[in-house]
Parts: sequence; C-alpha cells; structure tokens
Amino acid sequence: MKLTAALCVLGALAQAGLAGKCSSYQSAPPASSDTPTPSASPPPSSTDYSSSSDTSAPAPTSAPAGFKVTLDQLNAAFPDAGQSGYCSGKKGCNTNQDAVAAINNAITKYNIKTRAQAVAVVAVMALESDYWMYNVNVFPGRTGQGTKAMMMYNFVYSYAQSLYPDKVDPNAGSLQPTSAANNATMNGIRDLVTSTPNDNFGAGFWYLTNSDAGKPFYTDPAKLRDGNADDFNAYSTQGLGAPASPERITVWQTVNQNLFK
Ligand SMILES: *[C@@H]1O[C@H](CO)[C@@H](O)[C@H](O)[C@H]1NC(C)=O
Repeated sequence: MKLTAALCVLGALAQAGLAGKCSSYQSAPPASSDTPTPSASPPPSSTDYSSSSDTSAPAPTSAPAGFKVTLDQLNAAFPDAGQSGYCSGKKGCNTNQDAVAAINNAITKYNIKTRAQAVAVVAVMALESDYWMYNVNVFPGRTGQGTKAMMMYNFVYSYAQSLYPDKVDPNAGSLQPTSAANNATMNGIRDLVTSTPNDNFGAGFWYLTNSDAGKPFYTDPAKLRDGNADDFNAYSTQGLGAPASPERITVWQTVNQNLFK
C-alpha cells in the first residue's frame, strides 16, 4: 500500500509530512502567494495559441501521431486498476477504463509535446492517487487538496480558475483552513475539478504546462529526455518539490516500460 506517498505530493509539496516523503513546496512556486494570478497563464488549450504573440511559451507543435495511451497499456502497468471491482464502493476512485480517455484528452488539450513529459505526468498521478484510488487527500485530510495529481489547494484553486472562471470566487485563492467556512469554500472549489475523469486526470498535465515550477519541464523538452530516470528525479525535486525516492522511480519505470509505446 502506498498511501503515504500517494496522498502526499504534488503541491505535495506543501507540508513536510508523511513519513518524510513530502517536502515543502508552498514556499516555492505560486507566484507570490496571496494574489492569485488568474489571467497570467491561460491553459495552453486555446485554439489560437500558436498564432498569438504570447511570449510565455514557444509555439507548441502538435503531439506526434500515435501519442496515446491504450487500455491494454494501462492494464499492463496497473493491473489492479484494471479489475472491474477495483472501485466498488469507493468514492473518487477510477479504473483504467476511466483513465484512458481522460489521459488522452489531456495530452491533446495541454499540447503535451513529448513521450517523456506524458510518462512523467502519468507516473506522478499514479503515485499521488495510489493508482487512481483517490482524488482528495484523505490522510491526513488536507482541506482543498485533490485531483489525481493530489495538488495542494493553491494549485487546485488556479486549476479551477482555468477551467471554471465563472464559478470560482476570485478572493478565495489565499484562503487557509482556519475555519469551517473556509474549509467549505476550499473544498467546494476542489469539488469543481474532481467531479470528472477529464478534470481529475487533466490536473497533472495542467501543472506541468502552467505552474511556475513545472513549466520549465514543458517548455524545454530537453529537461525530460525519453527514458531518463534522472530527468524524472529532477522533475520530482525541482518541478514538484518532492524528494527523489526509490518508490517514485519504480512507478516511473513501470509507466515508462508500458505506456505510450
Ligand atoms: C479545516 O480543515 C483542517 C484540515 O485541513 C482541519 O484541521 C480543521 O479542523 C478544519 N476546521 C474546521 C473548523 O472544520
């Protein structure tokens, strides 16, 4: 059982915590804390993206043909999550069947450029969600933390803003879990982005392409070379603020060996 790792990460990064697997992330990434930056980085999904003069990212190229995951590949990598009863009675759980289209949709939506980028993101989400079992933090139960990438609230907030700008309170970005009312608002924003497989599985790809710490690994494809475990470690430590660990590499190896072939 990989609960500790699983429920700790991505923004995971926030509180040092569980079993020492998580480091502190909050101090690093989000631009400058209290002011959310809604319009700073629109999701790279808008259709006129390549024709704009946006200087924040190079003009994306379309994903290579055949750059998709298949159900067979997911079942080979994560056999338990391929069982029909895997999620029975478990709220927030998804099977490989749910994951396949959602992952492929996100690769297109966020214009993922290389196989290594997709491998890294899927490995992180598999680890963070305990193989698709969870989409909210249940241990210790951090307010607002969720999606398959198990992002901390500050990222969940930015992600929700990117997807549902009309539904997100513009003043809620800096809320802290200090009252029942705050908790309800924060968890409500998390609910917005954890209700569909597309949004849940899209989170890791959004993080890579939009967060301050993740984005360099997207805009410079040389930072994540195909089949390179050291590069994945660099993404973990520099991109996510999570410590490199044998367990993370094991998950990455499984994904690298089986997916996007
Ligand atoms: C808000 O959530 C935190 C966990 O993030 C919890 O420790 C705290 O007790 C909650 N506060 C209330 C009033 O429910």
